[in-house]
Amino acid sequence: MTSVKKPPAACLIGWPAAHSRSPLIHHYWLRTLGIAGGYVIEAVPPDEFKDFVFRLSLRGFVGANVTLPHKEQALALSKPDARARAVGAANTLWYEGGELRSTNTDIEGFINNLDACAPGWDRAEDALVLGAGGASRAVVFGLIERGIKRVHLANRTLDRARALADQFGASVHPVAWDAVADVLPRAGLLVNTTSLGMHGQPALKIDLALLPPHAVVADLVYVPLETPLLAAARGRGLQVADGLGMLLHQAVRGFELWFGQRPQVTPELRALVEADLKKV
Ligand code: ATR
Repeated sequence: MTSVKKPPAACLIGWPAAHSRSPLIHHYWLRTLGIAGGYVIEAVPPDEFKDFVFRLSLRGFVGANVTLPHKEQALALSKPDARARAVGAANTLWYEGGELRSTNTDIEGFINNLDACAPGWDRAEDALVLGAGGASRAVVFGLIERGIKRVHLANRTLDRARALADQFGASVHPVAWDAVADVLPRAGLLVNTTSLGMHGQPALKIDLALLPPHAVVADLVYVPLETPLLAAARGRGLQVADGLGMLLHQAVRGFELWFGQRPQVTPELRALVEADLKKV
């Protein structure tokens, strides 16, 4: 009897199974690279996550992306790398020598998108990061790893910024939310990791005229694609990096780990996902 080898498949594990652009991104790469493989969404409730992950390979998966609310559990159930440990959450699982490994690809997603959109951004000595949630941890870690001297971290709840500074060390400086304007004139990079500016959320009110002329502005929000913050930055002639770019760049590593080829973030892929975002 000849056995037919099934093509490798990965999945996105979440609960509820929210609408995600990940299948669109990975199917595009599988198609354009001519790889026989699959990527599906798996809705898994929190109390079934552990069992699902233990049987990931038995279910025929070579790995997975993990989204809310499972990212912390994914970290605990696998052997995380330094990035997943630093962020305290894993979003990508794969097998290495039979062992389930995990990482957090938001860090490289953020950094690689900046490199693509605003080369030279890392000449900034001072960066100002708004927000101190999970996304902010990835951004702050990436900036420190890249050697940015001072990361000013402003958050509505100052204690969360302080806690992050305690974890990441002396290059992170907590800033009270109402003191943001004092830091702007020094910030060569401004990053919004809060939900402000997202569709249905209040706007982020910041006077970009205070930023230096060479500043780069990044927003992690990608619905809408062009947030009021990015529109204002472009209006001032500043270089920008948007949230969709980060989303596309963070998907690269998982694909490479599961399917063995490093894919490219192309204008065609971006246009495909942009068109999908416009449907909502
Ligand atoms: P994520 O994991 O996506 O970063 P999160 O942990 O919920 O999400 O963090 C959301 C961030 O947006 C936080 O920094 C939050 O500030 P608080 O720590 O004070 O809650 C910030 N945020 C949300 N709504 C905000 C608002 N109206 N004004 C200022 N900051 C806001």
